[in-house]
Amino acid sequence: MISTLLLRVSVVLGLIGMTLGMVMGIREDFTLAPAHAHLNLVGFVVPFLAGLYYRAVPRAGASVLARYHAWIAILGAIVFPIGIVVVLLSGSAVLVASGGVIVLLGATLFAVIVFRTTRRSAVTTHSAAAAERTAVPPL
Ligand code: HEM
Repeated sequence: MISTLLLRVSVVLGLIGMTLGMVMGIREDFTLAPAHAHLNLVGFVVPFLAGLYYRAVPRAGASVLARYHAWIAILGAIVFPIGIVVVLLSGSAVLVASGGVIVLLGATLFAVIVFRTTRRSAVTTHSAAAAERTAVPPL
């Protein structure tokens, strides 16, 4: 299930991001604050929300596009914050630029998936199917 991958990877990246925040606080060196912020947001919050969306709307999570989205989002969530670290410490912007493009590509795929699965017809069909599954059988 692609939602499981997103939920699990996001909490791990969130733990790494929060640990980086603790380390920054202990060392009183906030140079890497933008990397910490983006790892927590692009690595934890955003993929966790996508994982929840795929749980709430299984049709969206079952699509092939969702698979592409998940892997691209995970790749971007790793490459982008590392790219921020590199640009802050060495000035080279190659990795941060590539990471940014990957993150944007993943976000675009997710936007397409959300638009497709929130169309009135898609929502109605899904709700009807869900209602059928949870319907209490007549006595
Ligand atoms: C254990 C948890 C966390 C710790 C110890 C922590 C620690 C820190 C520290 C020390 C800073 C730098 C403050 C400064 O520059 O004066 C910071 C900045 C920031 N943190 Fe966290 N943080 C944690 C969790 C989070 C989470 C979960 C998010 C987002 C979901 C987040 C988002 C941010 C943002 C947006 C900034 C500002 C970055 C900037 O100014 O460039 N943090 N955090």
